Amino acid sequence: MATLAGEITTAPISERVTNGAATGKPPIDPLDVSRADLYRDDVWHAPFRHLRAHGPVHHVASSDYGPYWSVSNYRGIVEVESLPDLYSSEAGGITLADFDRDRDVRMPMFIARDRPIHTSQRRTVAPAFTPSEMTRMAPDIRRRTAEILDGLDWNTPFDWVDRVAIELTTQMLAILFDFPWEDRRKLTLWSDWAGDIELVKNEETRKQRLAHMFDCGAYFQTLWNAKIDRPPTPDLISMMIHSDAMAHMEHHEFIGNLILLIVGGNDTTRNSMSALAYGLDAFPDARAMLEADPALIPNAVSEILRWQTPLAHMRRTATQDTILQGQSIKAGDKLALWYLSANRDESVFGDDADAIRVDRPNARRHLAFGHGIHRCVGARLAEMQLAILLEEMAKRRMRINVVGPPTRVAACFVHGYRTLPVEISRY
Ligand code: HEM
Repeated sequence: MATLAGEITTAPISERVTNGAATGKPPIDPLDVSRADLYRDDVWHAPFRHLRAHGPVHHVASSDYGPYWSVSNYRGIVEVESLPDLYSSEAGGITLADFDRDRDVRMPMFIARDRPIHTSQRRTVAPAFTPSEMTRMAPDIRRRTAEILDGLDWNTPFDWVDRVAIELTTQMLAILFDFPWEDRRKLTLWSDWAGDIELVKNEETRKQRLAHMFDCGAYFQTLWNAKIDRPPTPDLISMMIHSDAMAHMEHHEFIGNLILLIVGGNDTTRNSMSALAYGLDAFPDARAMLEADPALIPNAVSEILRWQTPLAHMRRTATQDTILQGQSIKAGDKLALWYLSANRDESVFGDDADAIRVDRPNARRHLAFGHGIHRCVGARLAEMQLAILLEEMAKRRMRINVVGPPTRVAACFVHGYRTLPVEISRY
């Protein structure tokens, strides 16, 4: 029988559900990769390796999120995401946690809509992420990155997540939304509550989560009111208010989409910045190569995104009976697309897929931003921020040394770090 931390046996998958009767605890299926402890303890590699080799489209009959299919190889995820009418984002939402009509606030977001509404709503925000907008924002992001790095103490331990990753991410979002500067940490709070799907398992935390989402909605309502009758300004709220598609968008959809942008851009970028610190320390050869040749920075950004995969999965729901890689999927079945596993797929990234290689030739093929019509709209912005951070570190010859174990997010959706103790030194 498998241990979570060790290798999974090669026994048939059907024999692999542990018998809880012996221990008095509920049975654990070691191939149920939705279990939060796998991510809290960073021991998800072995079950996914097993799934890719023996059952890349695998049915889990029972989990905290009910029955679901795990799609864990690269080819399977690309196939599902290429067929958005067959595999819906709208029918059941985008995470394994089901939306509860009676207990959850209705906050429609275009990430969880299908065509044609998805297409028109995505168009309201896409202009904020064009290459020319990136060029416009770059100097501001660079200046703020430099200020944060210059404020750090050398050779003294501090928490990278709090001092750098959260701070940089919230500053960038505050610029993007023209959000009140002094309140910018609210963005982190709301994003943490919105993105943590573990919280919906418990009635009390579910209610608290709902209350935070109401606060967030009310806050954005105030910002909206302040901009609605004003001439356009170059920020996302104003851009959405003045776009053509707004005429067809309900008010609660507008607020929902704003929240989507905060959540989408927040813990993902933050956790990539933490991965950059943690991962380069874990692979000193890769770090030395990057320090010697800053021209590798763009490729290193893709490689770090691949290696971390800040969103472990997105969910789809089948709209019809179909066959996926030989498995019979029924209409209404839910599928978890494990980007985390696809980004370690040996058939695409080779046998060293668990390592960071800043010169990996196909690092850009990663699926950390998804694939197809829902591919991340903020991808360019995220890449630019990470590149600027690495460039500014290189200018200062700044090396991040991890000085203690990180604490990790205990969840199967956001894949990241709560704290990361580091010291910086000069190389
Ligand atoms: C969509 C990841 C940064 C906004 C997505 C999807 C993924 C993802 C995997 C695909 C969803 C799906 O197929 O169902 C990431 C990662 C990021 C990042 C790893 C950082 C490293 C950002 C930023 C923003 C953003 C900075 C905006 C400020 C969005 C939005 C969508 C999306 C609005 C929905 C797109 C659609 O449905 O058409 N992101 N994201 N993301 N992301 Fe990101």
